[in-house]
Amino acid sequence: MKFNIPYLTGKEKEYVSQAIDNRNISGDGAFTKKCQDWFEKKFGFKKTFLTTSCTDALEMAAILLDIKAGDEVIVPSFTFVSTANAFLLRGARIVFADSCSDSPNMDADKLESLITKNTKVILIMHYAGFACDMEKIMSVANKHNLYVVEDAALALGSNYKGKSLGSFGHLSAFSFHETKNISCGEGGMLVVNDEQFIKRAEIIREKGTNRSAFFRGEVDKYGWTDIGSSFLPSDLLAAYLFAQLEAFEVIQNSRMKIWNLYYEGLKGNKNITLPASGNHNASIFYFTCRSLEDRTKLIAHLKQNNIPVSFHYQALHKSSFAASGDNLPNSEKYSDTLVRLPLYVDLKESEVNTIISTINSFYN
Ligand SMILES: Cc1ncc(COP(=O)(O)O)c(C=O)c1O
Repeated sequence: MKFNIPYLTGKEKEYVSQAIDNRNISGDGAFTKKCQDWFEKKFGFKKTFLTTSCTDALEMAAILLDIKAGDEVIVPSFTFVSTANAFLLRGARIVFADSCSDSPNMDADKLESLITKNTKVILIMHYAGFACDMEKIMSVANKHNLYVVEDAALALGSNYKGKSLGSFGHLSAFSFHETKNISCGEGGMLVVNDEQFIKRAEIIREKGTNRSAFFRGEVDKYGWTDIGSSFLPSDLLAAYLFAQLEAFEVIQNSRMKIWNLYYEGLKGNKNITLPASGNHNASIFYFTCRSLEDRTKLIAHLKQNNIPVSFHYQALHKSSFAASGDNLPNSEKYSDTLVRLPLYVDLKESEVNTIISTINSFYN
């Protein structure tokens, strides 16, 4: 048994061959456009740009929002390093926010206490595809005139009260890394929901040039018009990704079935806490143990039984790099006690049952 196996729809090779035959394997080829159209139609995103990673999409967001030294960005402590790094690279001061007591997501009730005259952005992350409290977050952002960026790396296909995650923020970022529901190995997407950023996003993604406008025949030569970098992926990656998008419902249904099997099998176990109910996209099945010590013993027990499990993020405010000295007990709690179980389409029901019984028997 493995912790993750990337799903293959069977169409990937055919579409990658087509991309090769198209003799246009750089960025923004036919498959890139197909993927972007698919996302915009399916989830109601205003404009999408495939990128080489979610990290790159976040870096584009920081450039688009003109982040500079002195600007403060509120970032959850319980997240991946890229969420913070992308903004730190532009000179921002990162202000760490705690998680909720009953969810790893940012505690929106404490948000206003973190806002100063220098705050420019609220950066949220929807853990395991469970939505942050978007009503509260958007209302605080509107009241204080702040930008909202969604790190939706784990949230493709999930929603908050029927509206797709990734469609709330001025800008949002998704990941298609091998570990995600839909993947192309390494890949990502910037979503631009605020029209004012669309034109510039295109330029920043093309090394700070107006090359896209040139290819559309809108200018007779292209040149250097802004800062930027090389954020666009090869059409080979987009071809692979498109095969996955066509199988989106199949992948989601299958992952959801496994997620529900775990939930049903573990809900009677009083030694662990399962995720609070709510909408999610079966990107991760997680639970929390009573303590770090308990988790260490459980993980050792599962490993002895050849069950690969993992945990998630090390609270950023406690990292050797940030060492902010903040007191964020909920973020630390999730870092110390959260356990993630294998979750992939090819995981067999018998394997899921073995994992469930091994966890339950550990506590008996
Ligand atoms: C919340 C979050 N944001 C960003 C990333 C970075 O994604 P990528 O590897 O596509 O850059 C990850 C990676 O898992 C993540 O979990």
